[in-house]
Amino acid sequence: MLPWFQDRFPLYLAPMAGVTDKVFRGLCKEQGADVMVTEFVSAEGIFRKNARTMEYLDFAPAERPLGVQLFGADPEHLGEAARMVRDWVQPDFLDLNFGCPVNKVVARNGGSALLKDHALMERVACAVVQAAAPCPVTAKIRIGWSRNEVNALATARILEEAGIQALAVHGRTKEMGYSGEADWNVIDQVAGAIRIPVIGNGDIHNAHDAARRKRETRVAGLMLGRGAMSSPWIFHEIKSFLATGEIPPPPSLKAQWAFIRRHCVLAITARGAERPALHSLRARLMAYTHGMPRAKTLRGQFAKVESLAQLDDIIAASLAESDA
Ligand SMILES: Cc1cc2nc3c(=O)[nH]c(=O)nc-3n(C[C@H](O)[C@H](O)[C@H](O)COP(=O)(O)O)c2cc1C
Repeated sequence: MLPWFQDRFPLYLAPMAGVTDKVFRGLCKEQGADVMVTEFVSAEGIFRKNARTMEYLDFAPAERPLGVQLFGADPEHLGEAARMVRDWVQPDFLDLNFGCPVNKVVARNGGSALLKDHALMERVACAVVQAAAPCPVTAKIRIGWSRNEVNALATARILEEAGIQALAVHGRTKEMGYSGEADWNVIDQVAGAIRIPVIGNGDIHNAHDAARRKRETRVAGLMLGRGAMSSPWIFHEIKSFLATGEIPPPPSLKAQWAFIRRHCVLAITARGAERPALHSLRARLMAYTHGMPRAKTLRGQFAKVESLAQLDDIIAASLAESDA
């Protein structure tokens, strides 16, 4: 059993390309997230020692336990990539992506394409488990390709048999993309059918959602994506609620801005340049406006933000207005 399931009901930060970089993972860890997964990393890129791909492997010791998520479709290349990653950065685990719905990935048989090709999925999983040993391997799946092809139970059994040590299940089909609602009945069925821990994923936006899924399903942990993207303090709120039944008051607007500003400063430092860092952060800043006063205006302002000075003006105006 992976150690982080032994004494805890772990909260995972979901892997999110373009979002869960080293800076954001560090911030979520501070807020109480237990387990981190990198953004998905191309096994082919690793295999070819592509310098940009290798940048995704960088993480801080404080982020542990951390998994590196790989995607690809060639069992041999995936196995070799897993072994290379294990030797270079010694992650706590490797994670296989069997859920990505993006056409560019699916067209090359990666991500959720493997939900339709169980024979290939099995070869991929076996190759990676063998090549990565003794580093544990986990996987993340969707419940199926489409409503008529929900096959999460069969997928889960194949992966368990292949030696996968934990399984994250996003309760949507590939065809749903990110719309509709995650099906937690299927997640629960999978959790009840296999012996390895199942991590439930999909639409957890507050501490009540988390408590309900913990209470009503057999999952061994939860994984949060977009809820953490707009409110990273959600980890702290869930932890408190599960431990004490009380939800701490949400951070004040001032505290939220201080957090967001710190995120930007850390990202600028990591990038070594203010303008490109803030360009990349625009979508991230917009995600933070969920639930804030004047969110639409803020999003318009963030669409153009280029400097920390501009951000400070936006923050000052927001705080002045909330005091008025
Ligand atoms: C912007 C974005 C990027 C994502 N990138 C990845 C990824 O690289 N690997 C992966 O397994 N899932 C990825 N996902 C899916 C999430 O990990 C998660 O399964 C999904 O968002 C559902 O959880 P949520 O409802 O808590 O957001 C991504 C989702 C979003 C919104």
